[in-house]
Amino acid sequence: MAIHNKSHSNHALMSLNKMRKDRTMKQKSASDFEQPEEIKVLHSIMDCCDFLKQLPDESVQLICIDPPYNLELAGWDIYDNYIEWASQWITEAYRVLSKNGSMVIFGGIQFRDVKSGDLIDIIQYVRHSTKFKLINTIIWHYKNGMSAHRYFANRHEEVIWLAKTNDYYFDLDSVRVPYSEEDLKLALKDKRLNPENTMKGKNPTNVWQIGRLNGNSKERVGHPTQKPVEIIDRFIKSLSYPGSVVLDFFAGSGTVGRVCITEGRHCLMCDSDPASIDYFNKHLELMKKLGQNTEYKKIESIADFFDVEQGENEQ
Ligand SMILES: C[S@@+](CC[C@H](N)C(=O)[O-])C[C@H]1O[C@@H](n2cnc3c(N)ncnc32)[C@H](O)[C@@H]1O
Repeated sequence: MAIHNKSHSNHALMSLNKMRKDRTMKQKSASDFEQPEEIKVLHSIMDCCDFLKQLPDESVQLICIDPPYNLELAGWDIYDNYIEWASQWITEAYRVLSKNGSMVIFGGIQFRDVKSGDLIDIIQYVRHSTKFKLINTIIWHYKNGMSAHRYFANRHEEVIWLAKTNDYYFDLDSVRVPYSEEDLKLALKDKRLNPENTMKGKNPTNVWQIGRLNGNSKERVGHPTQKPVEIIDRFIKSLSYPGSVVLDFFAGSGTVGRVCITEGRHCLMCDSDPASIDYFNKHLELMKKLGQNTEYKKIESIADFFDVEQGENEQ
């Protein structure tokens, strides 16, 4: 698309250009980046494919999405040919990701018929029809959930982490988990472990035990498939850096936007349901009640978000 940079004060693009030149980016961590003076948030109500088409190439560091899967949980959860539809946003997602960028996709491995989609369909498509690299499959294990009588009660969901290239940014230190006093003593004696890293905490591994949001959870803002802040926080801290751009084009309640404001990332959100704005406002109210920072600059257009002028010859 013809979209030209008009400003040297555009922090998101400046960080991105710096990153492109810097071959050691994959070794950097959050402390190598300055917190932006203000966080930009754009929250659009439209179809994700229309939204994605407007974004510049390689302009996003992290895409964190929780797509619909034809489970008919709601009116938005119905597509006739799931993977044909999903392939459109996967292709666009690849285009808009920076070279050091990642995409995280929530899902499950549950299907009842051909029409419904699931994470296996997405993995298969990504594997055979894109250049994405699968870095991890994270098992999100929760102890709370629905009971079942005709099958084993489900207590996990899967999340895939895809990178655009092998030079992906990953700040493990930002999400290390503290050792218990006893485990730390043992780990420091373990000759296979680097004591400097051990002191920073342990790798959270690819099995994450984080509670699901119950109906009466204090975090709930009313969206039927709202994700916990804790799980989104771990992805945003480790796969994006302060001042970079995070995108969620199935924003739902805007959990990703909430975490971006707290962690100093610029955020692009899109959802086809206008109620997404109301849910996000509820997140902001909850944050205020918790005494958390809710300051951000509301941006109305993609051109303003990237500080660019729409090209006259735009097609
Ligand atoms: C699983 S929910 C996301 C929940 C979110 N992760 C949260 O924490 O609140 C999926 C969202 O995708 C939206 N959606 C479905 N089809 C869409 C489309 N074609 N374009 C944009 N949004 C869509 C739905 O309105 C729904 O809010």
